[in-house]
Amino acid sequence: MKQEKIYLRDYKAPSFSVESINLDFNLNEDFCRVIAKSNITKKEAAELRLNGEELKLVSIKINDKVLTSQDYQITGEELIIPQVPEKFILEIETELEPQKNTSLEGLYKSNGIFCTQCEAQGFRKITYFFDRPDIMTSYSVTIEADKKKYPVLLSNGDRVRIDDLGNGRHKAFWSDPHKKPCYLFALVAGDLGVIRDNFVTKSGRKVNLEVYAAHGKQERCWHAMDSLKKSMKWDEDTFNLEYDLNDYMIVAIDDFNAGAMENKGLNVFNSRLVLADSNSATDVDFHAIESVVAHEYFHNWTGNRVTLRDWFQLSLKEGLTVFRDQEFSADMTDRGVQRIEDVDALRVGQFAEDAGPNAHPVRPESCMAVDNFFTMTIYEKGSEVIRMMQTIVGRKGFRKGMDEYFKRHDGQAVTTDDFAAAISEPNGKDFTQFKRWYHQSGTPVVNVNESYDSSKSEYTLTLEQHCPPTPNQPTKEPFHLPLMMELLSKNGQELKLECDKIETNSDGKHLIELKEAKETYVFKNLNERPVLSILRQFSAPVNLKWQASQDDLYFLMEKDTDSFNRREMAQKIGLGVLRQLIDQARNKKDLVIDQRYLAAMSAIIRDEKMDHGFKAKMLQLPSHSVLAQEEAVLDTESFHTARTTLKKAIAKENRQQLLEIYQKFHGVEPKSRDTKAFGHRSLKNSALSYLAELHDPEVLEVVNKQYWGAQNMTDRMTAMMILADSESVHRDKALHNFYEEWKNDAVVMNKWFTAQATTSRKQTLEDVKTLTKHPAFNITNPNNVYSLLRAFGANLVRFHDPKTDAYEFYADKIIEVDAKNPQVAARLCSAFNFVQKLEPAMKEKALKQIRRMVGIEALSKNSRELLQSALA
Ligand code: PHE
Ligand code: ZN
Repeated sequence: MKQEKIYLRDYKAPSFSVESINLDFNLNEDFCRVIAKSNITKKEAAELRLNGEELKLVSIKINDKVLTSQDYQITGEELIIPQVPEKFILEIETELEPQKNTSLEGLYKSNGIFCTQCEAQGFRKITYFFDRPDIMTSYSVTIEADKKKYPVLLSNGDRVRIDDLGNGRHKAFWSDPHKKPCYLFALVAGDLGVIRDNFVTKSGRKVNLEVYAAHGKQERCWHAMDSLKKSMKWDEDTFNLEYDLNDYMIVAIDDFNAGAMENKGLNVFNSRLVLADSNSATDVDFHAIESVVAHEYFHNWTGNRVTLRDWFQLSLKEGLTVFRDQEFSADMTDRGVQRIEDVDALRVGQFAEDAGPNAHPVRPESCMAVDNFFTMTIYEKGSEVIRMMQTIVGRKGFRKGMDEYFKRHDGQAVTTDDFAAAISEPNGKDFTQFKRWYHQSGTPVVNVNESYDSSKSEYTLTLEQHCPPTPNQPTKEPFHLPLMMELLSKNGQELKLECDKIETNSDGKHLIELKEAKETYVFKNLNERPVLSILRQFSAPVNLKWQASQDDLYFLMEKDTDSFNRREMAQKIGLGVLRQLIDQARNKKDLVIDQRYLAAMSAIIRDEKMDHGFKAKMLQLPSHSVLAQEEAVLDTESFHTARTTLKKAIAKENRQQLLEIYQKFHGVEPKSRDTKAFGHRSLKNSALSYLAELHDPEVLEVVNKQYWGAQNMTDRMTAMMILADSESVHRDKALHNFYEEWKNDAVVMNKWFTAQATTSRKQTLEDVKTLTKHPAFNITNPNNVYSLLRAFGANLVRFHDPKTDAYEFYADKIIEVDAKNPQVAARLCSAFNFVQKLEPAMKEKALKQIRRMVGIEALSKNSRELLQSALA
């Protein structure tokens, strides 16, 4: 089967404009009738081509005249009308079967609720239309449905009225005063519970806030409501951006492909990112909800008011909005810890993507399936690109640029070039080279070389950059890299920098702007050799190759004035130690623990002054996915041996101190959710996870007690995960209890699946296979698929176990999911991204499965695109 690719270079401005559209929905149990009436103007000679897929066409009228089949053509993807007048009213009637829609895009049903998902190209499954973001128009919507079954009828914008039709049905009228592209259209109809509050904007507009969820669940929506109000306030304070409608609605839906969707005035959310109380949600869940609610809210300006010209520009709204939500989270919690978490996620997910067969630029040039654009590169690397802009121009300069962006482009559909111009021009900066970040893929490598000449009192720093080849990009031009830096004295003080090539941005931060492939910097008047602190706060998304002495690394881990770098050095040293152990394990040697590292970790454990949340981050060992990126061969069993051996050694050395930490914080303010309490819990639970490595019955008693006595989900889940990954006598009882407690709660059951899919036990694959047949597991529910199957695919030790048929099982599941829901299947495919690093026998095993999947005629273009690149 030939699959068409689309290219950015083929972009053509639309030949038509749409002044307004009226959508009329008639919802029934077995079908839904849609009448779309648009006011269209032809701007240049052209035939009318509208997108539409899987639609049943009932009729087409132009200016009230019914067209006959000679007047138009229908292909699988388009409706073509060769002859249309200059200005006309187009009326199209289609019929849909939402109850049969398992792809969860377009109009579908989830637990008896009708809802829509139109981004990226779902609107074409509702009616024939210009399904492209540069067609922005005014929407009015009517929804008719059974009054009892669907008392709540929602769409974008303002409620106009609701009519009782007398025959047991009612009809709602909505009108959105803001023009928008069709991917932001939404409709919800169902019997839902709701909580209400309001927010008064800085100019005095009172906004009604509503969060909807299944009846009985609405009391778990208050954290989302709270997060929404914080976001509205933050966007006013930080960017002077105010909400622009009288209502803001969030609806929680159980079957949802992604996290959440920013439809104008009517966000639709995956219920896992709305529902939370301390019994059912962990600290991590609360934090995720706050940041996603903020993310969707922030889209109202970055995405909706200013939207995309085409889908290749996706990072224009996603990178920018992720940046905004990360900054919001930093302000709401602890900036230092937040940055560590964001960089960890970037490294684990995006760096791996950049190093794999599906690497692509932040602004891609081509694709098969637009849905495959929703990646870590577009989102998280995109956010880093925006962050670098802010680092270069400083916060004040960035705010000036953002003001300019809205001044220039409010109400328009624009490109990443437009954004870069709005930030750079008011700041007098040239971003020509900087924009290589948008079109060059891959993670740049920066090599650091230093020397000190005591006779001249000079310190010389040489930086070299290159970027490894990525698909379709064998060579790259140098990047414009903002590297935040300081030089530190022996006692950890920041030294005066006497070097004319160092910039100071408007925040007073010292910056190297590396633009050449190689550059040298000479710092004068330094009477002793300074210690370099570079890439502070991870100011550019690069791989730093720095053969610093162990003395310098340990010094920085202890004394760097940038907290991000202290943790970064701890990771770097830890990585070196783990790699040595991996080498020993692979060569069947005795594993010898590095004593200096052990002593440094012990010192951290014993440090009474360190912030608790930060300490938990300092104690974290590099993950298997980070090891996978560093090691040439993916031998995950040896990763596991190395990591557990090291963890155990640290635990053994500090058994007493770790127990003390645990006892000090366990049970303190178990219901509090402020950042401090979050930090306490994260520290004492990490102490517990170290202790669990000792496998001694006394510790497992403590874990078991925590499970049964837990007063919040963070503690219960931590204990359950430790027990699930053990051979403890307490294991089965806890898992059974958790199931009995939560079996009727779809969101919480996902934790139970994940706890069992992520263990390092040899029988994990068998457990996962059994769980796919469990009555609580539903393969049509994306959350179930992600929490069980995708979690297993990310379990590197068990997924790449040479003794099992994990690849074959996983491929079977991809095929099964793909037939129903291509977007969800595509998200499973990344488990195969490491193929090139596998040992020959394993590689052949994996390739065999990939070939089998790609050989299936009916495989979706989503999965096909991601899998076939691994064969290239
Ligand atoms: N635009 C959504 C967001 O980032 C993500 C999304 C993409 C949701 C596609 C659904 C479908 O907020
Ligand atoms: Zn987004």
